[in-house]
Amino acid sequence: MNIDEFISQLESLASDAEQQLASVTDSDALEAARVEFMGARNGRLKDIQKTLGQLAKEDKPQGGKKLNEAKQRITSAIENATAALETSSASSGPQVDPTLPGIRPHLGRVHPITQTIEHLKEIMGKLGFAVVEGPEVEDTWHNFVALNIPEDHPARDPLDNFYLTVAGQQVDPSAHNARLLRSQTSTVQIRVMENTQPPVRIISLGRVYRPDEADATHFPMFHQMEGLWIDEAVNMAQLKSVLRMFATNYLGSNVKIRFRPSFFPFTEPSVEADFLWNDTWVEFGGAGMVDPKVLAAVGYDPEKVSGFAFGLGVERLCMRRHEVSDIRDLYRNDARFLHQF
Ligand code: DAH
Repeated sequence: MNIDEFISQLESLASDAEQQLASVTDSDALEAARVEFMGARNGRLKDIQKTLGQLAKEDKPQGGKKLNEAKQRITSAIENATAALETSSASSGPQVDPTLPGIRPHLGRVHPITQTIEHLKEIMGKLGFAVVEGPEVEDTWHNFVALNIPEDHPARDPLDNFYLTVAGQQVDPSAHNARLLRSQTSTVQIRVMENTQPPVRIISLGRVYRPDEADATHFPMFHQMEGLWIDEAVNMAQLKSVLRMFATNYLGSNVKIRFRPSFFPFTEPSVEADFLWNDTWVEFGGAGMVDPKVLAAVGYDPEKVSGFAFGLGVERLCMRRHEVSDIRDLYRNDARFLHQF
């Protein structure tokens, strides 16, 4: 091997590399070229480098210098090819035509019932009521027994409730631990009182379930807002004031409120609460003074504390405020309807 041969091999290798790298169109080809020319083991430059030792002693410095030059040329060719690939992949993406009308993204919205729940929490929060939650799968103790609803009460009829079969066992609605989807949020009154000492001032909002045929005013799942205030001398005038303040805040200052005598096993006396709105009296729920038997069932002393409770229909409130006439519209998942809120 003489120096001229050595140099001409390097020359042709570098031009080969430059040519090949200038025409690569994807990263696989680029990598293949890099391995072919610069591969640390069997790369073509390496092969020539191995013959450096065969040059005459006085030619070796020149040979080394030429080797480095060739290496430099190949390295730049690789860098250029890499840069060219990067720019071409950036510009080959989808092209934007700014003159075309855009595609509007579909933004979701908070469901009107969720919006109502947030609004009710805010109003009641200002009146000093803390928000608590309770489970939707309940036992008969919390849904009925502790609320003074006796075994023969029609509200406990299996046809009027969603009792649940647990581990394949026969449902026994008279047992205290039979499971059901709660039919009312009054269950939460019991759960809170079982775990806290008075004073208690809470609301609880959530789903309840009853096997009703769906029509304009009924749905097998709906929401209630339960309220409970227990303290040393809570009275019925406070109940009416709280409900009046709530109603005027939510529906407007022209709203009037009226109590009609009623019956609930867990309150004595009991009332239906109606609000006058646009010249019609609308029933929004039940209320009353918590029955001493309920206070005793949770271990409170009915001689020392008293309280009121109420349970209002969230859908009714929402529908009244937004003039929705059919409860089913809330649950049809028709975006055209839901987007109005
Ligand atoms: N739980 C009753 C229902 O679902 C509503 C109700 C009435 C709740 C009176 C109360 C109450 O807290 O005091 O029909």
